[in-house]
Amino acid sequence: MEWGMANRMAQLIQADGHCLFLPVDHGYFQGPTRKLEQPRKTLEPIMPYADALFITRGVLRSSVDPDNSKPIILRVSGGTSVIGKDLANEGLSTSMEEAIRLNVAAVGISIFVGSDYEKESLLNLAKLVDEGERYGIPVMAVTAVGKELEKRDARYLALCSRIAAELGARVVKTYWCQDFDKVTGGCPVPVVMAGGPKVNTEKEVFDFVHDGIQKGAVGVNLGRNIWQNEYPVAMIKALRAVIHEHASAEDAQRIYESPQNRGN
Ligand code: 5RP
Repeated sequence: MEWGMANRMAQLIQADGHCLFLPVDHGYFQGPTRKLEQPRKTLEPIMPYADALFITRGVLRSSVDPDNSKPIILRVSGGTSVIGKDLANEGLSTSMEEAIRLNVAAVGISIFVGSDYEKESLLNLAKLVDEGERYGIPVMAVTAVGKELEKRDARYLALCSRIAAELGARVVKTYWCQDFDKVTGGCPVPVVMAGGPKVNTEKEVFDFVHDGIQKGAVGVNLGRNIWQNEYPVAMIKALRAVIHEHASAEDAQRIYESPQNRGN
């Protein structure tokens, strides 16, 4: 691996082999998502605990100070919205030249395997990989399911993750599922887990993140279950402990409940 690519990968995946990416890109198709109406306000208290941010250029410029930033994974696919015809019909929204100008550590793009736009999204990924490799910029592929959350099973996610890796993604973001080792076992590049819509209890999040790490994920790219939580700082600290300090789900729950972490 060339120096630039290796250096960027090292900014993302930490020396212990693990990572906590914090996505705040949801507005690119959802608009002002709950608790992300003012991204700067959402990010301020939790950014210190993230290893990298997943973000669009617009929110990066408006809401993150260039002299106080984490490594950036730039969301470069888009062009659809929640009220449009088909979320899967994305294109490349940001050029590699712009990514270089913004000094990013990686770029990220969604793929929609099994959708009407499967081929377009996969060829967009392949094109982005060609450009990224030219400049030493890793591509993170996001195995998107659109509104069809029930698609999140091992057979489907293993298929998507492997295809993303085959097309050259350096990191794959997918969802946790039962038998997650089938996903990581068939994917030759690092896998990170998204959280999906906010779940009912924090313990559910700690349980799946812990299970996923045991089964081969290198970390998370997890947003709403952190910043839509009532205590986002306590939540991200607890997840950091699972990812970077071998904490159990029960340890994480204790960290989450600690009055000190909740700012009480
Ligand atoms: C949405 C994304 C998010 O980055 C990804 O889904 C992770 O966020 P969450 O944990 O909230 O699902 O790709 O555009």
